Amino acid sequence: MSNLTPREIVSELDKYIVGQNAAKRMVAVAMRNRWRRQQLDPALRDEIAPKNIIMMGPTGVGKTEIARRLARLSASPFIKVEATKFTEVGYVGRDVESMVRDLMEIGIALVRAEENEKVRVKAEARAEERLLDLLLPGGTPQPASTPPGQGMGGLTFDLSASHSGGQAIPQPPAQSDASHASHPTGTGSAPDSRSSTREKLRTLWHGGKLDDREVDMEVEESGGPQVGVLSMPGLEDVGSQVRDMFSKVFPSRRKRRRMKVRDAFNLLTQEEADRLIDHDRVSDLARERVEQTGIIFIDEIDKIASGSAQKSSDVSREGVQRDLLPIVEGSVVNTKYGMVRTDHILFIAAGAFHFSKPSDLIPELQGRFPLRAELSALGKDDFLRILTEPHNALTRQYTALLHTEGVHIEFTDDALREIAAFAEETNAQTENIGARRLYTILEKILADLSFEAPDRSGDRVTVDSDYVRAHLADVRANKDLSRYIL
Ligand SMILES: Nc1ncnc2c1ncn2[C@@H]1O[C@H](COP(=O)(O)OP(=O)(O)OP(=O)(O)O)[C@@H](O)[C@H]1O
Ligand SMILES: [Mg+2]
Repeated sequence: MSNLTPREIVSELDKYIVGQNAAKRMVAVAMRNRWRRQQLDPALRDEIAPKNIIMMGPTGVGKTEIARRLARLSASPFIKVEATKFTEVGYVGRDVESMVRDLMEIGIALVRAEENEKVRVKAEARAEERLLDLLLPGGTPQPASTPPGQGMGGLTFDLSASHSGGQAIPQPPAQSDASHASHPTGTGSAPDSRSSTREKLRTLWHGGKLDDREVDMEVEESGGPQVGVLSMPGLEDVGSQVRDMFSKVFPSRRKRRRMKVRDAFNLLTQEEADRLIDHDRVSDLARERVEQTGIIFIDEIDKIASGSAQKSSDVSREGVQRDLLPIVEGSVVNTKYGMVRTDHILFIAAGAFHFSKPSDLIPELQGRFPLRAELSALGKDDFLRILTEPHNALTRQYTALLHTEGVHIEFTDDALREIAAFAEETNAQTENIGARRLYTILEKILADLSFEAPDRSGDRVTVDSDYVRAHLADVRANKDLSRYIL
């Protein structure tokens, strides 16, 4: 798992999120605590439960963004779910346990990728042999994968095809029944020339000369009949389990497809890697990883708190909270990879809490989230930094986008200050939507330029404060208009 120190985590987050230091520090410490716990001996380790966090703050100030960036940083299984997607058991919608099943899928994918990497060299070597088998007409049986009786020449290489600029491909020996030198039952009359052809092909392949050639290959169809009836909301998990079951009962169909040699190689590598990997071990490792280091980010938690608004749906919201309790507390969830304990999974919840407060959550749930991080509302100084500092800053995005049309734009400092100030003003006068306001304002300022850009290739446009003012004049003059446009 990632062993970044809290300071390092915060500085990574700083690359994308301006301010909100308290929240950043809190999630960084929570992450680091997972690592610390791992260093302890097992007896004590089991006693230490994660301290779950609630991030509170107005809309558009970086709650979800922090979670998204955290996900990229952590090598631990991480999933972000919307609390509003869940409904109480028995109602149509997703049941809360599905978040653990989904997290387990993510853990499996993570571990599988790692295991893949470990066997990659071996898998590639095997794939290369199989690829050469494919490329040599009347080739040898493919090892292992092909059922007996259909092995010979399952795949052919169309040497007569005239694509890719008539490259010199060594002609195969004329005898179509010639087989590879190493093939025990081979009756090949020219084993030497055959194996030298093979080596020539290998050299061409290594030199990247065959990548764009095409080859016919049998590929596995994702097996089993589609179980459409079960893809109803709430039953997806059942559906996928049934599909898995069917795929074991029905032999997977193989279908001949024509594809680029490079793609064929990648597919073969994947097949070989699949064969080399111990899938039970993957499940075990993934379960361990999920149980010990998994993080579930529950967004929009405030929407399932029963504030004063909309009493009518309170029943179901409270139901979701009650369903969440055991999972956050620690329980066992049945997944298709076995039972997963949730005791040590870290939960980070976030919500704007505009119309409700954390104290509107049922008390049991409040208790399970002892840490509270408050994110502050953003002002014009923050906006100014958000416009320029993050690696993915909006001004950089627009500059790069317009650059593709050959238009070079440049924002002057006073223009940026003007935009930031206007964002603050609009947030105060209409609705405070935080940094998202910058999106609407920049869109408005650059609307005409974006439209005309293809006709203005080669132009240099300086966006200064006059430019900004001119393009915002109409919404400025008319408050009602700004409600609709910004
Ligand atoms: N502090 C910040 N630094 C940089 N960019 C930010 C910041 N806050 C918000 N943004 C930008 O605004 C967008 C919206 O922020 P985000 O999705 O995090 O809002 P949120 O706090 O989750 O709001 P909501 O309560 O509506 O879900 C982000 O994609 C990001 O680009
Ligand atoms: Mg959000």
